[in-house]
Amino acid sequence: MRAATLLSVLGAVAAASASDVADLTASTFADTANQPLALIEFFAPWCGHCKALAPHYEEAATILKKDNIPIAKVDCTVETDLCSSQGVNGYPTLKVFRKGVPTDYAGTRKTDGIVSYMKKQALPAVSEVTASNHDEFKTADKVVLVAYADESDKSTQQTFRDFADIYRDEYLFGLSTDAAAIAAAGVTPPAVVMYKTFDEGRNDLEGSIDDESLLAFAKEHSVPLLDEISPDNFAMYAEAGLPLAYIFVPATDSKREEIVKAIEPVAREHKGKINFVWIDANKFADHAKSLNLQEPTWPAFAIQNIQEMTKFPLDQSKTVDHATVSAFVNDFAAGKISPSIKSQKVPAVQDEPVFVLVADEFDKVVAEDKDLFVEFYAPWCGHCKKLKPTWDSLGERYANVKDKLTVAKFDATENDVPASAGFRISGFPTIKFKAAGSSEWVSYEGDRSLDSFVEFLEANATNDINEPDNLEAELDGETEVKSGRHDEL
Ligand SMILES: *[C@@H]1O[C@H](CO)[C@@H](O)[C@H](O)[C@H]1NC(C)=O
Repeated sequence: MRAATLLSVLGAVAAASASDVADLTASTFADTANQPLALIEFFAPWCGHCKALAPHYEEAATILKKDNIPIAKVDCTVETDLCSSQGVNGYPTLKVFRKGVPTDYAGTRKTDGIVSYMKKQALPAVSEVTASNHDEFKTADKVVLVAYADESDKSTQQTFRDFADIYRDEYLFGLSTDAAAIAAAGVTPPAVVMYKTFDEGRNDLEGSIDDESLLAFAKEHSVPLLDEISPDNFAMYAEAGLPLAYIFVPATDSKREEIVKAIEPVAREHKGKINFVWIDANKFADHAKSLNLQEPTWPAFAIQNIQEMTKFPLDQSKTVDHATVSAFVNDFAAGKISPSIKSQKVPAVQDEPVFVLVADEFDKVVAEDKDLFVEFYAPWCGHCKKLKPTWDSLGERYANVKDKLTVAKFDATENDVPASAGFRISGFPTIKFKAAGSSEWVSYEGDRSLDSFVEFLEANATNDINEPDNLEAELDGETEVKSGRHDEL
């Protein structure tokens, strides 16, 4: 046992001194990040996944040293400012840097995976295209970007190569300086053409390019006008960040194509501002529900504002056709439609140990001059079920100061948190507190015991919530303090 410990200590010392992983600080960081290619890990010494990665990371660094690819790490418990400026909010975070520009590392955390991912990253992101491979290259992927430039136009070539280095995982890039290929494409250089397997099949960007115009061009045209959405391509729409308009229709509906075709002109009109998709209403009925559509009246239509997490279902008594959808989308685009807020009915009587808060009453309850402590829960969530008896006890404990403090629960699956709250719920349970007279919500981050809740409320409530909870205690109050009995209890 002792020998093993000693050996591992020696091993660690040996490994540390021989490490090919550079330890970066705020002052040495830029040197590495500005290299043509580097991999940097942001870690914390206590993090288990970081410890598991360490031996693989060391091995990979030694192998990649031969390829001149620097591998480095930053201890975020020491370099806190550096890590926060890099937007690190979990450990380990691995980023590939190219001349200072980071992209997320998307390989595995094993030696082989790290080595092969980084070696691929070191290959040119741009293929050379000539007349002989032009036709083949144009159709090599769903979306292909080809830049056409004169041999002497180094600046366009460099701009395109730098861009391709960053977006190499998303698109296939080709570059041609071959006059015959340029003639075949029918462009006047400099130009960039997107070849794609959907919609119009091709888009042209003519004239000189920069990072911004390339990115805008790629983003606008790589998203199909009106495709089916599924788990495979959902991320692309989420990343695009534009409001997303859904036609909910069963894939098996014989009129599906006709309905989708009728909406296409609306999609074209709002292209670049709102993305349009159709979705299998039978398979994804839950998604329809989350957008406040009721099943099963299909087809149905709804817009989701992905950035603001708001939803705008079209009244389901209306027909999903060109005229209705067009008018609805125009109103949406003009900001004339309020987001839909799902709510349970306001309870006729509050007969539970804690106050049952619903969306329709949210603003009213928040406006009351009381301290407010709310659990946002989902009925299916295990931690919420476990919390229930404690939360009920908390409600009972403060039952006699209901005019000063509201202990509430909010079923976030049946109610939307109104935008006026200024926060969204991303996990269950979420516990939030708002002091009387304040408009600011604070998250409760303590442990979920009755004592901790009480301690939190006593420290943070504006109102005096510590009324003696029975007459006896009130009468005994003075002697308790004097005799010191209180402290012993
Ligand atoms: C009071 O609230 C703050 C958050 O605003 C929290 O950090 C603090 O721990 C709370 N006090 C107690 C005793 O729980």
